[in-house]
Amino acid sequence: MTHLNHHMQKDSKKFWGNSPRRLLFTMGALCIVASLLSACSAAPSALAPEGYGAREIGRLSWILIAMGTVVYLGVGGFALLALFHRGRGSFDDAPDAHDTEGNRSRQIMLWGGLVMPAVVLLVIFGLTLNTLISLSALARSDEITIDVIGHQWWWEVQYPEQGIISANEIHVPVGRSVRINLEASGVIHSFWVPQLHGKLDMIPGHTNTFHIRADAPGEYRGICAEFCGIQHAKMLFLVIAHPPEEFEQWLAQESQPAASPESASAQAGRELFNELTCNECHAIGGTDAVGLLGPDLTHFASRREIGSGIMENNRDNLSGWIENAQASKPGNLMPAFSLTETELTALVDYMETLK
Ligand code: CUA
Repeated sequence: MTHLNHHMQKDSKKFWGNSPRRLLFTMGALCIVASLLSACSAAPSALAPEGYGAREIGRLSWILIAMGTVVYLGVGGFALLALFHRGRGSFDDAPDAHDTEGNRSRQIMLWGGLVMPAVVLLVIFGLTLNTLISLSALARSDEITIDVIGHQWWWEVQYPEQGIISANEIHVPVGRSVRINLEASGVIHSFWVPQLHGKLDMIPGHTNTFHIRADAPGEYRGICAEFCGIQHAKMLFLVIAHPPEEFEQWLAQESQPAASPESASAQAGRELFNELTCNECHAIGGTDAVGLLGPDLTHFASRREIGSGIMENNRDNLSGWIENAQASKPGNLMPAFSLTETELTALVDYMETLK
């Protein structure tokens, strides 16, 4: 490296001094490092679409990236040309040097500075309008409506036609247009499932609507894309796309009230749920727990994650969450509880019956 640098310095001094070549070299190296770093991220990519909207937006993105690359290379090429031409001063030898050069500058400004950018921007404008029109096509054929309400920091999910209330997990049928109504309580959030659709803001007192369609069964990560407080980064959810019959089964299961616990420990857990006032914040269908401040827990055990996507839904994580939800998600509304080992086991046993 040192040798190369040294060699370069000698080289550049010989031709056109130190700085331009060194600057170009540094910029090139930075570009390579930046592109390597960006490949490290494991986040779901909007450029790996599995749904109608994301596919349309992805196509537009690739066209914009291609056009941007051409413009970048063009401008970079002219910049290099300017560097190479420095100091040659060929025009100075011509008799009408100033007139010719002035005329040429005006031509370059007219075509390169006005006509070309206008054409490029008009093309982009047309393509963007076309994508917006394509996105609205799903609205004509929606078959199911889901209301999603953003809270600090979790997602309430309602299926108004079926009377289902859930949280942090949105189940949809594959290949069907789903209407999503977005609302928020308190502060603004933004609903984003990169592989299915672009993002849309959730605004208190206002309903924003869009349509999504998943084209393949699977689990798609959703995130909050608008800073909404200290736990904004821990406000995740899942969209789970099922084949149509499987989705109907899920709807049927989810419409049921909570199962009655059978084991003595789980029954004790159900009593504790009320004694500890869990019922004042959480609802469990078919019981006298009707709280609305926190997620509905009627079918909690069938959900994949706890704490709005921050950890897997298993016994250990659930015990930790019940004892002290502030440890893993400081600032959320759930207080810490000091419980005996038996009480904690009973509560977890009860929660695990809520399939
Ligand atoms: Cu909700 Cu950020």
